[in-house]
Amino acid sequence: MKAITFQDKQTLKYENIEDPSILKDDDAIVKVHIAGVCGSDLHVYHGRETGIDCGTAMGHEFVGEIIETGKAVTHFRKGDMVISPFTTNCGTCYFCQIDLTCRCVHNQLYGWREKGEGLHGGQAEYVRVPMADSTLMLLREGISQKAGLLLGDNFSTGYYCAEQADIQSNGTYVVLGCGSVGLMAILATKMLGAERVYAIDAVPERLKKAAEFGAIPINFKTQNPIEIITEATKGRGVDAVLEVVGSKEASRMAMNLVRPGGTISTVGVHTSNHFAFSPVEAYDKNLTFKIGRCPARYYMEKLSDKMPIFDKQISSLITHEFDLKDGIEAYHIFDKKEDACIKAILKC
Ligand SMILES: NC(=O)c1ccc[n+]([C@@H]2O[C@H](COP(=O)([O-])OP(=O)(O)OC[C@H]3O[C@@H](n4cnc5c(N)ncnc54)[C@H](O)[C@@H]3O)[C@@H](O)[C@H]2O)c1
Ligand SMILES: [Zn+2]
Ligand SMILES: [Zn+2]
Repeated sequence: MKAITFQDKQTLKYENIEDPSILKDDDAIVKVHIAGVCGSDLHVYHGRETGIDCGTAMGHEFVGEIIETGKAVTHFRKGDMVISPFTTNCGTCYFCQIDLTCRCVHNQLYGWREKGEGLHGGQAEYVRVPMADSTLMLLREGISQKAGLLLGDNFSTGYYCAEQADIQSNGTYVVLGCGSVGLMAILATKMLGAERVYAIDAVPERLKKAAEFGAIPINFKTQNPIEIITEATKGRGVDAVLEVVGSKEASRMAMNLVRPGGTISTVGVHTSNHFAFSPVEAYDKNLTFKIGRCPARYYMEKLSDKMPIFDKQISSLITHEFDLKDGIEAYHIFDKKEDACIKAILKC
């Protein structure tokens, strides 16, 4: 099959790799219809996350059709359209039971193979899905493929970030980073009732989208976020910062903007060895700090009833569509934020 594979730092390849096959009875094979290119793929692409095998099919966001199931798969059959979270999960271990599906003891991240072990990703014609019954979800009626794709990662992650920030209607919040995940976090803060949400980024089209979702945009290249937030909160700082970037600069900014007793909720993937703030700074702010991977499978279920209502807003983030063969161009445009690109998908 054809796939976009990792070769080396900033080098991907559109190439033929072996077709996946059923290796265990609880596996399913999915024919990918659309696959997302995510900010998390950029950490791999730029070599900020290391260790991935050369030749691994990239990507962890996909929607597709079941074409084959192992003997033990009972929830799905050939022809079913399914959504997947970006990690697999068993549904029965301690962490699955406490809804932290992303930390399932058997979890695997799509698009991550190391020393020959692991899973190929979704930027390919086919994907093998282990523990298919507990990992996959049917693409229900009323949910478009595009919104379903975002439910498997970006929307669930944005919503998780907002829930971790303990949103109250009368609070003041900052969302740092207006990529697809940050924009979904803004939508989630609004769904959870927040009236005053500031959105910080430096990409005009993304800030424009943030404003469409009801946030007050701040361009950190042309405006001073600290001055604006200080003034807006009578010098206190915001109740919570939702950090959706994953860099030292953003983390530092979050610390500067949060009020004493406030929360920083981080879903940005951090690849540096140290925090951007010291323990004493956290102590002196009585800070609540929440960080981690989104238990997307749990949120997919939880949010699915709301999906038809928000389908149009959610799918509006997908600004670019490419054929799988043009996947490398999709990475370039998405990475450089060219052509007002917010989110790119590949038709596989
Ligand atoms: N925790 C999880 O489960 C999970 C899931 C999905 C994505 N992520 C992570 O979330 C982050 C965002 O993902 P995305 O797909 O939206 O990425 P993206 O690259 O599309 O967006 C990141 C945005 O942050 C902005 N930015 C960069 N530096 C900034 C700064 N100092 N202050 C404010 N904004 C800044 C960029 O201009 C860009 O618009 C990434 O780190 C990604 O790996 C985490
Ligand atoms: Zn992703
Ligand atoms: Zn589990």
